[in-house]
Amino acid sequence: MCGIVGYVGKNKAVPFLLQGLEKLEYRGYDSSGIAVFTNTGIKIEKKQGRLKILADAISTKEDLNNANLGIGHTRWATHGAPSDVNAHPHKSKSGKIAVVHNGIIENYIVLKNELMEKGFEFVSDTDTEVVAQLLDDMYNGDMFDTLKTAVNRLQGSFALGIVCDDYPNTLFAVKKDSPLIIGLNENENYIASDIPAVLSKTQTVCRLKENQIAVLTSEKVELFDFDGNAVEKTVSKIDWNVESAQKNNYEHFMMKEIMEQPEVLKATISPRIKDFDIKLDDIEFTKEYLENIDKISIVACGSAYHVGCVAKYFMEDILRKPVDVDVASEFRYRNPIVGENTLVIVISQSGETADSLAALREAKSRGARVLSVVNVVGSSIANESDDVIYTWAGPEIAVATTKAYSTQLSILYLLALYMAKKLNKISEEKYKENIENINRLPSLIEEVLKSENKIKEIAEKYLDKEKIFFIGRGLDYATCMEGSLKLKEISYIHSEAYAAGELKHGTISLVDNDTLVISLLTNEKLFDKTISNIREVKSRGAKILAISTEDKVSKINEISDDSIIIPKFCEMMLPSLSVVPLQLLSYYVAKFRGCDIDKPRNLAKSVTVE
Ligand code: G6P
Repeated sequence: MCGIVGYVGKNKAVPFLLQGLEKLEYRGYDSSGIAVFTNTGIKIEKKQGRLKILADAISTKEDLNNANLGIGHTRWATHGAPSDVNAHPHKSKSGKIAVVHNGIIENYIVLKNELMEKGFEFVSDTDTEVVAQLLDDMYNGDMFDTLKTAVNRLQGSFALGIVCDDYPNTLFAVKKDSPLIIGLNENENYIASDIPAVLSKTQTVCRLKENQIAVLTSEKVELFDFDGNAVEKTVSKIDWNVESAQKNNYEHFMMKEIMEQPEVLKATISPRIKDFDIKLDDIEFTKEYLENIDKISIVACGSAYHVGCVAKYFMEDILRKPVDVDVASEFRYRNPIVGENTLVIVISQSGETADSLAALREAKSRGARVLSVVNVVGSSIANESDDVIYTWAGPEIAVATTKAYSTQLSILYLLALYMAKKLNKISEEKYKENIENINRLPSLIEEVLKSENKIKEIAEKYLDKEKIFFIGRGLDYATCMEGSLKLKEISYIHSEAYAAGELKHGTISLVDNDTLVISLLTNEKLFDKTISNIREVKSRGAKILAISTEDKVSKINEISDDSIIIPKFCEMMLPSLSVVPLQLLSYYVAKFRGCDIDKPRNLAKSVTVE
């Protein structure tokens, strides 16, 4: 978790550090801080709370604003409560060295005890402070040399930005298991946890690989491995610009990202379909390989896990192979039955989620082939997978995912159809029909987005509810899980998703006049069954919001208090349409309740700790 930035150059550091941190606030926003090199050495300013508080504190301090070298941090608390003292940067005992960190130092207690015995005093509860103190303890007048030795004492994950009093013109950075990029420019260079932080300055970036140390000055950037050998930089040009990382005219990133769905789906789908043939980038699964797979195992966290839940239904249906879906934090520790004949699919927007990455490593160590579906190019999960399919959703800033979810789902449709064709599990006619359906997805989602005003009215009607259940069967149940998560994470209303037939086994006792039940009914075969479940909750006083297809309008209006109607479409892909009203509903309920939509409390977008 957390975001780090750094600047070295001929210009002022503070404007870059603050705008870079603003772009990284999605990684956590419990506190923020900077350390800059002033005439009187390194000075730190750090504050609990949002970045604005830090910016206000810095604005009057001339010496800070004149600095040409500095590091910055935005925090998602792991070790130690959110507070000024636990905010980064952390300084060493001598005050010579300041450090910002993203990750977790797993052996920090051992190191802390060791350093305390030597007389070091600690002021914070963080794991990061030991890095500053350890560097101070080991410092031999040569920071690069010190770093080379010190990194071998640190266990865990760490992207570090470091400044030292003896180096007024040099920024040091280290990467192991936490993301770090370098932005390259004329007369100035930058470090950051993610690309949007540097985009207003440069589109030329270099992603640090595992176990690398970077030494940056205004003129050059040098990379080394942990043994101190110089290594080549892999520099790439980012083809999305700062505009795409901004809100444009939307009030919130979440709404912008909801509205971008038709466009990013097109970008994700169309390059992969050529004359009814699915091309999964460079990936080739032979018929023989696919026949030998005895199980597909999908592993992910949060909404990406819900994509897996939806995919299980349609993959098992058309491939007739077992598909397991696990949350990564469970998979990694439960001795999973995974081996050479398992295809493991890891789904992740950021490509950095710690549990998903660990699950990937676990699966590989058991001999499984790992295919990842990832949005961030070159991220850790993408790098470590055998095969990667990128979702072309562009940067997703709102903590609650929308467009990444939709693009992930579209990749899973493509994958299922690709495999079904290779395995002769689908007729030519059905296959072609489905390819046409995938191609229609962007325009159909555009159609659904037109219900925005109606959904807004419904949101206003139910915004005071404190108890909301989502019910559905089959694919609708899987979509309900995502709808419920979306609503609770941004509006703080307690909501739960239930398989409609399961509600009566306990949970129905919670239903009363104050309950709203949101019901999804998009499956022809299960329609009447879910209608019966709606009757059960209605007779206990619940209000009903039903979401169904246009052919069911009269039946739906008869039973519900409110309804949202989506186009009739092939059932396998209806989850891509039915999730959209749920995203919009969550957005408007949260907005009317005055919630911080893009940055809900206690959450962070990229969860790089377990
Ligand atoms: C966080 C985000 C979710 C996301 C999950 C997995 O909890 O708030 O929106 O689904 O992490 O993230 P990933 O980057 O692996 O998709």
